[in-house]
Amino acid sequence: MVSTRIDWVREHCRLLRAIAAEFARTRPFDGLTIGTGIHLEAKTVALLLTLRDGGARLVSTGNLNTTQPDAVSRLRAEGVTVVGGPTKDSELHATYLEEVLAAEPDLILDNGGDLFARYLDRPYDGLVGGTEETTSGRMRLEPLRDRLERPILVINDSPIKQFAENEHAVGQSALESYLRMTNRVTNGEQVTVFGYGACGRGVAANFRAARARVSVVDVDPVTRLRAHLDGFATPPRDAAIASADVIITVTGARDVLTAADLPLLRDGVTLANSGHFPAEIDVPGLTGAAGVASTTEYADDLLTLELTDGRRIHLLSRGHMFNLAGPRPLGNSIESMDLGFALQARCLEAVARRHVDAASCIVPVPRPIDEAVARAYLDLKYPSAQAE
Ligand SMILES: NC(=O)c1ccc[n+]([C@@H]2O[C@H](COP(=O)([O-])OP(=O)(O)OC[C@H]3O[C@@H](n4cnc5c(N)ncnc54)[C@H](O)[C@@H]3O)[C@@H](O)[C@H]2O)c1
Repeated sequence: MVSTRIDWVREHCRLLRAIAAEFARTRPFDGLTIGTGIHLEAKTVALLLTLRDGGARLVSTGNLNTTQPDAVSRLRAEGVTVVGGPTKDSELHATYLEEVLAAEPDLILDNGGDLFARYLDRPYDGLVGGTEETTSGRMRLEPLRDRLERPILVINDSPIKQFAENEHAVGQSALESYLRMTNRVTNGEQVTVFGYGACGRGVAANFRAARARVSVVDVDPVTRLRAHLDGFATPPRDAAIASADVIITVTGARDVLTAADLPLLRDGVTLANSGHFPAEIDVPGLTGAAGVASTTEYADDLLTLELTDGRRIHLLSRGHMFNLAGPRPLGNSIESMDLGFALQARCLEAVARRHVDAASCIVPVPRPIDEAVARAYLDLKYPSAQAE
């Protein structure tokens, strides 16, 4: 029998498989619609089908530039309503998000705050609450807390998500994607990582493990000190840019690298972003800058800017999350996503069952859920040891 990669992923999402079997009995989402705006790829298929098995009607769209057609086809074949398809066009993507909200979901599974923020522009009765996956979404929604006034659990703020996905898995997938997309050496190269939060720590560690010389830039002096004590160089920002062969942004902030930095960039430097929004590197500003004479587009989303002074600047995925992009993108490891998505499933269950109230608006995953997910993972990994 030949099976698809989506089946391979589902096979290894052991937590989600166990939760789906339980949900099929307990049906926490019976009669409820869940609206989702999260990357549509093999691992999210496993999550969405788990929610469906719990009785949910799902209306789903992806995020900018990360929707995978095979995931969309599979979800549609399994009865999920999928709105839209792959796009980098933010205006078109906005129409997809509006269409999800037009279904007036009872629960929202958000990624980047897109759906909750839009809900406030066109509120409807019956939204119970939901989850937000990312740091960027939490930062966007926190100022709106007084208006949202319903339980919204932030998956990113679980320690499990922080270390399993953000640190270990994003670091690995950033390195894997860099090698896959560029097929270029890391040994001896000077890599500058902007942002030394959970994701940045993993990116820096993985490139160091691939024999690159890694320096870190972070606006927070305490975090810079941490990077220093972890053994990374922490030069001043401009010096770090000027010496880099590769610059990776992963901060959650906007305009971390802009056209104003063009004079600093070395010939042959590669720029890549792994932060959620494609706004960390100002790609329109860079490509449209006066010093850019021409551009060359290569296959697989590689773009080179040729400057009037002869320097060449390479951009991966035009500033979109490069660790989820390029030819045959794999993204973060299956197990790391299984952990994060088990948190998602359990948090949505808690909101659906009214185990959390409006006081839990933009708060971390409740500790008992973290503990239950950690225990379940270890139980599956070492069944006999845990039984002792
Ligand atoms: N690509 C992926 O698969 C993936 C997965 C998870 C999270 N993310 C995204 O990655 C980004 C970072 O997430 P995190 O969990 O590491 O966040 P974090 O808040 O833990 O860390 C961000 C760090 O960036 C620093 N920073 C902010 N602005 C800066 C600037 N202009 N220059 C240098 N440093 C700056 C902060 O001081 C902080 O130390 C977010 O956008 C998040 O949504 C991406």
